[in-house]
Amino acid sequence: MKLSLVSFAALAVSVVQAKQPNILFVLTDDQDIELGSLDYLDSVTGKIQGEGFTFNNHYTTVALCCPSRAAMLRGQQAHNTNNTYVTLPGGSFSKFQASGEDADNLPHYMHRAGYRAEFIGKIMNGYASWNWDTPPAGWDRFDGMLDPWMYTYNTPVFSIDGAIPRYYNGSYLQDVVHAKAYDRIDKLTAANATDQPWFLMVAPTAPHATFNETGDWAPVPAARHRDLFPNVTAPRTPNFNPAVNSKPSWVGQLPLMNSSTIEVVDEYFRARVQALQSVNEMIDNLIALLDSRGELDNTVIVFSADHGYHLGNHRIPCGKTLPYKEDTHVPFAIRGPGVPKGLSTNIPSNHIDIAPTLLDLAGLDEADWPSWLDGRSLLPYFTATNSSTNNASATALLPGTDPVYVETVNIEYWGQGIVEATAIGYSDVFLGNATYKTARVIAEDYSYMYAVWCTGETELYNLTADPYELYPVLASDSDEAARLTTRMNGLLLLLKTCIGQGCRAPWTVLHPDGAVKSLADALDPQYDALYAALPSVSYDVCATEYLHANEAPYFSSNYSALFAEITTPHQDAADYGNQTAGTTTDTIGWNGTYFGAVYEDLATMEARARDLTPEELDWETSAKFGIVRGYMDQF
Ligand SMILES: *[C@@H]1O[C@H](CO)[C@@H](O)[C@H](O)[C@H]1NC(C)=O
Ligand SMILES: *[C@@H]1O[C@H](CO)[C@@H](O)[C@H](O)[C@H]1NC(C)=O
Ligand SMILES: *[C@@H]1O[C@H](CO)[C@@H](O)[C@H](O)[C@H]1NC(C)=O
Ligand SMILES: *[C@@H]1O[C@H](CO)[C@@H](O)[C@H](O)[C@H]1NC(C)=O
Ligand SMILES: *[C@@H]1O[C@H](CO)[C@@H](O)[C@H](O)[C@H]1NC(C)=O
Ligand SMILES: *[C@@H]1O[C@H](CO)[C@@H](O)[C@H](O)[C@H]1NC(C)=O
Ligand SMILES: *[C@@H]1O[C@H](CO)[C@@H](O)[C@H](O)[C@H]1NC(C)=O
Ligand SMILES: *[C@@H]1O[C@H](CO)[C@@H](O)[C@H](O)[C@H]1NC(C)=O
Ligand SMILES: *[C@@H]1O[C@H](CO)[C@@H](O)[C@H](O)[C@H]1NC(C)=O
Ligand SMILES: *[C@@H]1O[C@H](CO)[C@@H](O)[C@H](O)[C@H]1NC(C)=O
Ligand SMILES: *[C@@H]1O[C@H](CO)[C@@H](O)[C@H](O)[C@H]1NC(C)=O
Ligand SMILES: *[C@@H]1O[C@H](CO)[C@@H](O)[C@H](O)[C@H]1NC(C)=O
Repeated sequence: MKLSLVSFAALAVSVVQAKQPNILFVLTDDQDIELGSLDYLDSVTGKIQGEGFTFNNHYTTVALCCPSRAAMLRGQQAHNTNNTYVTLPGGSFSKFQASGEDADNLPHYMHRAGYRAEFIGKIMNGYASWNWDTPPAGWDRFDGMLDPWMYTYNTPVFSIDGAIPRYYNGSYLQDVVHAKAYDRIDKLTAANATDQPWFLMVAPTAPHATFNETGDWAPVPAARHRDLFPNVTAPRTPNFNPAVNSKPSWVGQLPLMNSSTIEVVDEYFRARVQALQSVNEMIDNLIALLDSRGELDNTVIVFSADHGYHLGNHRIPCGKTLPYKEDTHVPFAIRGPGVPKGLSTNIPSNHIDIAPTLLDLAGLDEADWPSWLDGRSLLPYFTATNSSTNNASATALLPGTDPVYVETVNIEYWGQGIVEATAIGYSDVFLGNATYKTARVIAEDYSYMYAVWCTGETELYNLTADPYELYPVLASDSDEAARLTTRMNGLLLLLKTCIGQGCRAPWTVLHPDGAVKSLADALDPQYDALYAALPSVSYDVCATEYLHANEAPYFSSNYSALFAEITTPHQDAADYGNQTAGTTTDTIGWNGTYFGAVYEDLATMEARARDLTPEELDWETSAKFGIVRGYMDQF
């Protein structure tokens, strides 16, 4: 009797494990971790981190929305998607489509795993009032927000599967996302729903700044959240408005912020944590719904943000795009079946790891994963965390397969320097071309960041001694610093054009004999000559796109051929048609009323909604505003 009970229990366990979990992925927009925004999201800290696993050193690939999202959906470095900016010719949704990447990314592979794939919210910049009828491919249901209404919090516009865009008059944008997500989970978990596992990606735009006809402003919270946290200010970290400014490029030229600028920075911080409250309610509500349907234990819930944000750090009032931790380090946590509870890891990870991780969770055989993935599944981190932290001197397993060897993160940027707050007197929102490449090395015993800017300037930070990235280490400081600089240059030389395993395990490519598995190993003086012989990472000019000749030399002279193999066609600006970027304008307009006094369900919001009129959709001829802004649909 006892024996049969045991075997019955064992059978039940194996059945549960074999079942493919549902996957809910919530992705916010411009949400920092360094400035403490998670302190205002107890649904995430309590119900996802508390009940799941946290990646303490998770980084974006590019600190800008569109390239970050394109890289995430492809599981590929931005230098391989070549979707590098928010507008053409560098990037945008049009380029994602023209390159063929839209026809070959995460949701398509979730299909292969047997999943139904659905999307609600912001896919990426440039899915807009002029191309809503050609929605992203691969989603069984795609309910997308449109530019230029992604950031005008009180004029929500969505198109479902390319249907005429619908305006949710009287509703608050993030609440519309919430209501739509609730409605879909309600249907996907209904008693009469099919057994097919589902993947639902929900991407609200909170806490992104407001971009509207008059410029860029603090985000707009729901009416019910406008009075919360009245005395909260941006954290005065040691790098907040620092007396010392030894930064390269445009950042190095910024003056100290004065008190009126600091007031705006504090207002942004407050508005951001207020706007995030609707996201907090959504996550709570979706988890409660899954629980009430008995599906919570069979649902993986993933939380992240496309990239971070700075507020006053290094004297820069508001914005992103920079290589520093505020802009690049992001929240990332997973809960669900098979995920350890309440544990975390310091092993670094990156947005390009999300697609392979989800494919792994979905149970797709690794042989069916895309061959061009640059990221890795993070599931082995769960067990690695229990056995050891990232311990560069451990030698048990093969480099590249064992997460304990993972210590590098590659972050890139091509484009403009930007201050995101029109009203504070900075001469221009765009501060010139500010392209750069960064390598971070994050291990148990050391942590460094090395960046090379298109201006020829470099910077190296020793995060152990200088966690706020204030005091650059110079090669001339010491023999140790000189040696370290050559190693970081060599690493970056490889990472800037890495492909596949070269991105995952760069030391094994730099040292094919397998003798070097970490920066600590590479610092051995026996390699001085090898690293000294490598060319320095450099640019010819400060271009805002990834131009191959501009960024030579490469680690491998074979790189062009490799790139041609893995990358997609249509890399010429001429291939994107004559659609110029940034020409959409808000043809609805906000009447000044703060919506979202209470949260309402989708039926209530639909009752007030209507389809946009042909005139409202005609961004070229709309007489309503008559002006065409240059940056409405940029971020
Ligand atoms: C929104 O609805 C209100 C109330 O019905 C109406 O007065 C207003 O014109 C509508 N706004 C737009 C832009 O359609
Ligand atoms: C703005 O529109 C809402 C409904 O969409 C309406 O209730 C409100 O009265 C309007 N406000 C003004 C100032 O017209
Ligand atoms: C499931 O049930 C709901 C409510 O009873 C109904 O509206 C819906 O059409 C049903 N769906 C299917 C697929 O049968
Ligand atoms: C905010 O500060 C004011 C003035 O110091 C104080 O009266 C008020 O109690 C504070 N509010 C909160 C919520 O802490
Ligand atoms: C990690 O260790 C904890 C505590 O010993 C254990 O409960 C958990 O199952 C382990 N997780 C994994 C993934 O091995
Ligand atoms: C790292 O690994 C080495 C070699 O296996 C071991 O001696 C050392 O104790 C480990 N350190 C930690 C902190 O686990
Ligand atoms: C604060 O700095 C901004 C930006 O440089 C400037 O436009 C503004 O006039 C300054 N305000 C005061 C009060 O000095
Ligand atoms: C980095 O900082 C640590 C801690 O202060 C120090 O031990 C190490 O020597 C520094 N590294 C370099 C290259 O200066
Ligand atoms: C900025 O980038 C653009 C596009 O790549 C290029 O045409 C221009 O010359 C660059 N400007 C400077 C000042 O380098
Ligand atoms: C990346 O895209 C830009 C703009 O379309 C194009 O000019 C450039 O050649 C592409 N880069 C590569 C390496 O293909
Ligand atoms: C853009 O392309 C369309 C269709 O090919 C054409 O009708 C239009 O004249 C072009 N516009 C410009 C400014 O080249
Ligand atoms: C733009 O947003 C700001 C800040 O929310 C607001 O004050 C202004 O009225 C908005 N302008 C338009 C045209 O919607």
